[in-house]
Amino acid sequence: MNRDDLRELLVQIDLYVEGLFAPPDPVLEAALRRSREAGLPEINVPRNEGKLLQLLAEIAGARRVLEIGTLGGYSTIHLARALPEGGSLISLELDERYAGVARENVREAGLEDMVEVRVGDAKASLARMVEESEGPFDLVFIDADKGGYPEYLEWALRLSRPGSLILADNAIRGGSVLDPEDESARATLDFNEQIARDTRLSALVLPLIREDIDGIAIARVLGP
Ligand code: SAH
Ligand code: DHB
Ligand code: MG
Repeated sequence: MNRDDLRELLVQIDLYVEGLFAPPDPVLEAALRRSREAGLPEINVPRNEGKLLQLLAEIAGARRVLEIGTLGGYSTIHLARALPEGGSLISLELDERYAGVARENVREAGLEDMVEVRVGDAKASLARMVEESEGPFDLVFIDADKGGYPEYLEWALRLSRPGSLILADNAIRGGSVLDPEDESARATLDFNEQIARDTRLSALVLPLIREDIDGIAIARVLGP
């Protein structure tokens, strides 16, 4: 099979899985439409990955979730849907306007009682959260500026407990992590190596099919 045929097959498999397990959802579609109309970049997680986020949060029994990188709140809605009554999610976003769109999307999804979107540079927000002992979180999802991933990992660990899950989007980036000379993927490569080697974590990167190939990092914080 040549490269184009393989690519087409992978896309068809992705669509097959999506059709079965993540069929059209009016709330999610409205959130994407609102985000598009507001001119937000279309860099939300794909529907399949959103479903995976929801499943992982459910499997972890997460009650408190931290997200780094909100955009229009598309991944936020998936994660918040996994929460039990009384659960909560804090999502950190640099852009005030994006945060406004996300709050509206979360409200329209009926999740506003559980979700708080905080505006500012996530690094400063995270430092404040550690200072004010806002942890531990049961699940942290990293999906902001890719250069910040190694630092976000350190903050995530400080805001976790044994058993917490640390997830990160864009762990493969079209395969650019395979090229150690590719500076644009440097921080992602460092991040992946960190979670692979850190003895506090048990981790894996799961490749995912998109228009291009990407992946999600899944790490579980081990006992003390
Ligand atoms: N998780 C979202 C997509 C996030 S895209 C989803 O799947 O639906 C990445 C987001 O990170 C963008 O909205 C961008 O504004 C935000 N971001 C970039 N740098 C940031 C920083 N330093 N602090 C907080 N957010 C940041
Ligand atoms: C892009 C994709 C993402 O999932 C993200 O979080 C940030 C940027 C991109 O394709 O540029
Ligand atoms: Mg992403």
